[in-house]
Amino acid sequence: MKNILVIGATGQIGSELTMELRDRYGNSQVIAGYIKGSEPKGVLKESGPSALADVTDADAIAKVVRDYHIDTIYNLAALLSVVAERNPRLAWKIGVDGLWNVLEVAREHHCSVFTPSSIGSFGLSTPHVMTPQDTIQRPGTIYGVSKVTTELLSDYYFMKYGVDTRSVRYPGIISYVTPPGGGTTDYAVDIYYYAVRGEKFICPIKEGTLMDMIYMPDALHASIMLMEADPAKLVHRNAFNLASMSFAPETIYEAIKKQMPQFEMEYQVDPLKQHIAESWPDCMDDSCARMEWGWQPKYDLEAMTTDMLEKLKIKLNK
Ligand code: SER
Repeated sequence: MKNILVIGATGQIGSELTMELRDRYGNSQVIAGYIKGSEPKGVLKESGPSALADVTDADAIAKVVRDYHIDTIYNLAALLSVVAERNPRLAWKIGVDGLWNVLEVAREHHCSVFTPSSIGSFGLSTPHVMTPQDTIQRPGTIYGVSKVTTELLSDYYFMKYGVDTRSVRYPGIISYVTPPGGGTTDYAVDIYYYAVRGEKFICPIKEGTLMDMIYMPDALHASIMLMEADPAKLVHRNAFNLASMSFAPETIYEAIKKQMPQFEMEYQVDPLKQHIAESWPDCMDDSCARMEWGWQPKYDLEAMTTDMLEKLKIKLNK
């Protein structure tokens, strides 16, 4: 990776991935791709180049790739699961038509492409415990339908045209920097903000509902590690199960309460979120990622909770 374009650089993952890539490869080598109305600000803007890179506009993507001699594209443009249910057509346009644009540009300009998939690519008929790498993928959400399609399309471009496509199935990502916008796993981010502000948290997910989660530094590390992995060792490409920790609401609540004994939580289940959460794995088997490119998470729930609370206290002046 020499010249890298991050599409969706101002989003939940992109804002941190761009900075991490700049640390590793040099500020001027990493272009922050944004859409109108979501321009980079602050350190993201000041630390390196940025360019309009709307995934729905193939010409705009091709121009940035040509102008900056891009060889690697992180394509992070997507709508999360709950927002996507409200606008399925737009979810498809960004997730699938957008990826098609990116892959065509990548084919022409010989770029490698990373396009995340998700726990959302699984559905009710998938085995929920230790969900295997290769298993049933019949999701019931447009988010999942588009993620399965991006996995297949990415593999297709690799098999047919030799485009170096790679991907992981992210769990819910937890971070204190840019909040997620409209996902099912967002509760596991929101809960920390409520705890630090000293407010009671109303949990939209039912007690006992397990989902895979990951702390942002591990998610970033995994994404970069996979793109740097020796291609000869990759049996799978799109997309690797990526696991780190799996918990239900009461478990993350207890982890926070250990450090903030006053913290209170009550349940008011959101039917759409609950329905989606129940269709996703309880915990994935990520042994292929571990074997094929050495994946190993650093954070467990306790270490993440300590770090989240510490960083949020600074961020929120508490
Ligand atoms: N975090 C995503 C969501 O909840 C899942 O990958 O939509």
